[in-house]
Amino acid sequence: MSLPEMSLADRVVLLTGVTGDIGATYVKAFTAAGASVVAADLPALEDDGQGIVNEATEAGPGRAVFVPCDITDATTVEHAVDTAVKEFGGLHSVVNNAAIYRTLGAKRPLTQLTCDEWELVLRVNVIGMWQVIKAAAPHLAVSGHGRIVNISSVVARNGAPGFAHYVASKAAVEGLTRSAARELGADGTTVNSVSPGLVDDTATRDLNSGDYLAAAASSRAIPRAMVPEDLVGAVTWLAGPASGFVTGQTLIVDGGGTFV
Ligand SMILES: NC(=O)c1ccc[n+]([C@@H]2O[C@H](COP(=O)([O-])OP(=O)(O)OC[C@H]3O[C@@H](n4cnc5c(N)ncnc54)[C@H](O)[C@@H]3O)[C@@H](O)[C@H]2O)c1
Repeated sequence: MSLPEMSLADRVVLLTGVTGDIGATYVKAFTAAGASVVAADLPALEDDGQGIVNEATEAGPGRAVFVPCDITDATTVEHAVDTAVKEFGGLHSVVNNAAIYRTLGAKRPLTQLTCDEWELVLRVNVIGMWQVIKAAAPHLAVSGHGRIVNISSVVARNGAPGFAHYVASKAAVEGLTRSAARELGADGTTVNSVSPGLVDDTATRDLNSGDYLAAAASSRAIPRAMVPEDLVGAVTWLAGPASGFVTGQTLIVDGGGTFV
């Protein structure tokens, strides 16, 4: 067996949820590593998305295009996958980053959450993610070395007060990851989750107090604030060619805040 390829230069990558701080960082990182990137986010965020892909493409050496896509809408999801095939000739990797997170609103006890709130969070964070996997899987199979990276959260393991629906959705992401890994492995497609700790980004600062962020930072083995760039190594490795015998796993990236 030959040594695995390490470069992302020949890969076409679909990234969802690209206008948040973390998603925008993935667009920059994959493009900087030479990948061809289809960057998807809600149609209403097209201007922001265009700005992010233009900046990443200017920096190069890879190229990124924006595609308006609501992951709860099968038609726009298929359009995003078709864009990868038409613009770049196929699809090798998917990073399922889109989620309801910043727009969760104020933390509230689970006794006060409504069915509508639960349904929205599960529809986007779980069913929407499945819908992207469903549309992408046949194209990943054609490549013979497909990669799916589903973004979870350490709250799936640790729990977190005030966001029961979000926490449950991230636990479901990890179950979906393990099922998809079992089903798609024979095609050469790996499916893994990356589980970030609390990232000091715009979304988290909207939702949490400074004291909460400081307590998370000081509880880590590496006692500092986590930034979006801390996720790049894990996500690009699991989305790249060198991780081909790792599947169904959840990789925690939180500076040693959580040990399993
Ligand atoms: N920020 C953190 O501390 C943290 C920690 C753990 C996990 N995460 C996860 O990391 C990912 C990115 O988080 P973030 O901090 O950038 O949050 P964010 O809320 O800023 O980003 C979420 C992105 O998903 C997009 N999105 C929402 N609904 C969508 C839909 N129906 N179709 C397509 N796109 C949609 C949003 O427009 C946005 O670009 C999320 O999956 C989040 O759950 C974040």
